[in-house]
Amino acid sequence: MSDEVKFYEPTVYIPEAEIKTRVRELAEKINEEFGGSELTVICTLKGSIVFFADLIRHLNMPVVCEFLGMSSYGNHTTSTGEVKVTLDLNEPLIGKNVLVVEDIVDSGLTLNYVIEYLKVRKPASVKTAALLLKPDALKAHQLQIDYVGFQIPNKFVVGYGLDYAEKFRGLPYIGVIET
Ligand code: PRP
Repeated sequence: MSDEVKFYEPTVYIPEAEIKTRVRELAEKINEEFGGSELTVICTLKGSIVFFADLIRHLNMPVVCEFLGMSSYGNHTTSTGEVKVTLDLNEPLIGKNVLVVEDIVDSGLTLNYVIEYLKVRKPASVKTAALLLKPDALKAHQLQIDYVGFQIPNKFVVGYGLDYAEKFRGLPYIGVIET
């Protein structure tokens, strides 16, 4: 039997223009909330890279970019509940205002883990932004998400940073594939 993964053509679920508008709206809310105060914005690798890159370009305050390597899925399409830190932050967070940027909150286990992981470093505050939220898949019900782009049904989505077996991250839209 072959181990080869089959790839299906995604269908557009959230078009590029809609994402662009929504990302700008989220950035405006963040700008209102933080004013001119410095913000440490943490990109959780790899899925958040595109959302992160677009979001920070609409932020008005001084931004410190940090990258946190997190992995929970491998090539599976459902959460294992296990979170692995694959790359740590460069700078101390003590006394900093922090914004964690996630591409998608599915079970919420990853973001939940990240928040606890960061709080140990004594930041002044930790806020969270997720482009996509699947309310029906949420297991971490106490999870606080301060800025949500779109609430979506429990479908497997790709594009705009999100992958299926490392494919489709470069799509400019959010697409759906049948797996
Ligand atoms: C994806 C996504 C989130 C997480 C969400 O990461 O980027 O970090 O899963 O799932 P959860 O809410 O059920 O925990 P993944 O581990 O696939 O790694 P990637 O970002 O490198 O694609």
